[in-house]
Amino acid sequence: MTDAVSRLRYRCQLNQGADERREETHPLTWRLNDDGRPVFHKEYVEKDGYAAVRQALNELTGAQVIDAMKTANVRGRGGAGFSAGVKWGLTLQGEGMPRGYIVCNADEMEPGTFKDRLLMEQIPHLLIEGMILAAYANNARYGYIFLRGEYIEAARSITRALDEAREAGWLGADIAGSGFDFDIALHTGAGRYICGEETALINSLEGKRANPRAKPPFPGQSGAWGKPTAVNNVETLCNAPAVIRHGAEWYQALSGDLSDDGGTKLYGVSGRVKRTGLWELPIGTPGTELLDRAGGIRDGQQLKAWLPGGGSTGFLLPEHLELALDFDTIGQAGSRMGTGLLTVVTDQQSIVSLMRNLEAFFSRESCGWCTPCREGLPWTVKLLQALERGEGERGDIEMLDQLAIGLGPGRTFCAHAPGAAMPLSSALHYFRHEFEQGVRHETGPAHADPIPVGEV
Ligand SMILES: Cc1cc2nc3c(=O)[nH]c(=O)nc-3n(C[C@H](O)[C@H](O)[C@H](O)COP(=O)(O)O)c2cc1C
Ligand code: SF4
Repeated sequence: MTDAVSRLRYRCQLNQGADERREETHPLTWRLNDDGRPVFHKEYVEKDGYAAVRQALNELTGAQVIDAMKTANVRGRGGAGFSAGVKWGLTLQGEGMPRGYIVCNADEMEPGTFKDRLLMEQIPHLLIEGMILAAYANNARYGYIFLRGEYIEAARSITRALDEAREAGWLGADIAGSGFDFDIALHTGAGRYICGEETALINSLEGKRANPRAKPPFPGQSGAWGKPTAVNNVETLCNAPAVIRHGAEWYQALSGDLSDDGGTKLYGVSGRVKRTGLWELPIGTPGTELLDRAGGIRDGQQLKAWLPGGGSTGFLLPEHLELALDFDTIGQAGSRMGTGLLTVVTDQQSIVSLMRNLEAFFSRESCGWCTPCREGLPWTVKLLQALERGEGERGDIEMLDQLAIGLGPGRTFCAHAPGAAMPLSSALHYFRHEFEQGVRHETGPAHADPIPVGEV
């Protein structure tokens, strides 16, 4: 393979060696190879793969699978933290109900997020196994993996794994002699962030424009092609096999005293650290440990702020690193855990420039359906650009305050605009002085001693 081709085939890597990853403690990653070689069917089965499917189809009812997911307290890893078991319990099924769909949300376009990519590239059968369990619990007939189009390596791994699973009888008719039928198709997206919103994703899957749908009805009642549909994140689904194999209590206990949430989390760090990457750790692990594992901040720089789980979460300060990284604790601190991949910001980066960069992304990715989002986001970008150049006007910061409120929860059709508002309002709260530096003085230009413009 030429250098250029091997660069194109770059794979996402986990920063933990096999010596640390064990079946009892690392349900998502214990099977991974240290060299990043994907685990395909033969190796997956040798490492206890598909045992959970065999066990569930032969020994459990779908309702028992749902109960196990509820007791294990598997909270959705797509960002909202909604209980997977509760979601599956709300899917309409039974007398007179058509068999619907399981949709795996593999769009992963959240800035700073690259965890689902690792799972799909390196252990695609874990996702397939999780989807079969979800299908059994939700009485779904077909599954779709809605994959971010740029994830070419993941598409390769999944395509091969789907063929292998069909060949081995894990997909198709009468799976493992149980009488249960289910199959999965891979659907690659065309690269829009809004396709990650579950109802926009369903529209896109149906070949329609990717606008979010009004809720209710929720996808569990009327989703893809009007049938009951459960949409789950890749990492959420990848947790199901271990819950069935080792039991809900075991899974819940993995987080120990750190959190009420169950299991582990594929955490990550990017930004100005010495070693970016991914680690599977008990959910509730504090940010201090993640920063240590990332080798600390780069030399000569000081930690200024961090985003706990993607561009649509709120900034936190260095002192918040002591908090448990779980959905409730980070929520109580005024942010969201989101995807659990930290973005680290140092004193050498301008918050105004960083916000301009983020809001330009959110503005470009708005589907344009509702006014606050369609009009408010470009306006936000213009104001931030002016402040970044030191040409902000009096009142611009107050206008940003108003825009952050106008984009906030309850004012738009979907959570895209509130996601864009959250980092902005927290930046205005914690780093107002940096915005003030960008306001033009009557006597001359702003920025007595500015942080370098454009440093994001
Ligand atoms: C703008 C926007 C983008 C989103 N992108 C993703 C995504 O890429 N992947 C994902 O799993 N969830 C994403 N979500 C959340 C989904 O709407 C949904 O909550 C999630 O897929 C549910 O899965 P879970 O319960 O397993 O977390 C996004 C939400 C919004 C509002
Ligand atoms: S909030 Fe934005 S992305 Fe969501 S529906 Fe409205 S315009 Fe579209």
